[in-house]
Amino acid sequence: MLPPILAQLRIPVVASPMFIVSGPELVIAQCKAGIVGSFPALNARENPGEPVLLDAWLTRIAEELDRHNQADPDHPAAPFAVNQIVHRSNARLERDIEICHRHKVPIWITSLGARPEVNAAAHDCGGIALHDVINDTFARKAIDKGADGLIAVAAGAGGHAGAQSPFALIQEIREWFDGPLLLSGAIATGRAVLAAQAIGADLAYVGSPFIATTEANAPPAYKRMITESGAEDIVTSSLFTGVSGNYLAPSIRAAGLDPANLDGADATTMDFDKAARGGKPKAWSQIWGSGQGIGAVKAVTPAAELVDRLAREYAAARSSLCAG
Ligand SMILES: Cc1cc2nc3c(=O)[nH]c(=O)nc-3n(C[C@H](O)[C@H](O)[C@H](O)COP(=O)(O)O)c2cc1C
Repeated sequence: MLPPILAQLRIPVVASPMFIVSGPELVIAQCKAGIVGSFPALNARENPGEPVLLDAWLTRIAEELDRHNQADPDHPAAPFAVNQIVHRSNARLERDIEICHRHKVPIWITSLGARPEVNAAAHDCGGIALHDVINDTFARKAIDKGADGLIAVAAGAGGHAGAQSPFALIQEIREWFDGPLLLSGAIATGRAVLAAQAIGADLAYVGSPFIATTEANAPPAYKRMITESGAEDIVTSSLFTGVSGNYLAPSIRAAGLDPANLDGADATTMDFDKAARGGKPKAWSQIWGSGQGIGAVKAVTPAAELVDRLAREYAAARSSLCAG
């Protein structure tokens, strides 16, 4: 059974949080279009002495979605989610948890570490916690530590991708877990959203296609590269953050590196504190992340148009499969 907050979406899609790329414009557009919008808390970065940006973003998102709901009560906005990177290098975690708790964030997405106190904070303010995992062992740990639902990050996903087939990953988790289960990795069409449900997920978790939207915080060349690239242009490397991730090969070439000959790096080099302060620009601002599904993305459009396409395709796939 899905919690009510995830059961009333226009289509079963949660837009995934993307470092640098997802900010309030994108989240508001995604929620108004009827899917869960999300952003990483670390994207809200103020300079020293400035007002806390995460506070301002959460106020703005709540106010704009409220205004939308009053103006169009028949098409209420979907809820939003905030992503917390639960990694020892994230020096802001405690502060960000306090801010999200104060703003009663309805959906908390945690990645790179499962911690009971984050789940407890989500529950204490009436929210739910979804944890992203790349295998069954991490899935079991996440539920043991109090997460309400799981995001299975399969091979082909943008960002820190998993290595397992979605069929294997969902099958193993569904053997013991009947709570909310999202599937992530190269889902870029409404048909693929339905396929995620067919193999046992409740919802699809979609990231990279939203990079090519007008509201995404990404340079025009990055958006264009998404529309011009396909699965063959995605390379997997641990060089840039210390953890295996998927990147656009043309952006690696543009930075003067050979995508076919990248050295590895180990997980001890991962530092989100430095990344949040802009200290490691190459990892995400010059080397552009993407999943393998982007062959389906042909143009830069407003997020609402992308959601319309997914909704149309999802409905068509359902009726053609049901008719068969
Ligand atoms: C550019 C980029 C940045 C990302 N940053 C984050 C992040 O900060 N936190 C997180 O939990 N996931 C992050 N992800 C992973 C997504 O949450 C999600 O798992 C992935 O986008 C799904 O695969 P798809 O891109 O093929 O749709 C990122 C993905 C991309 C493409």
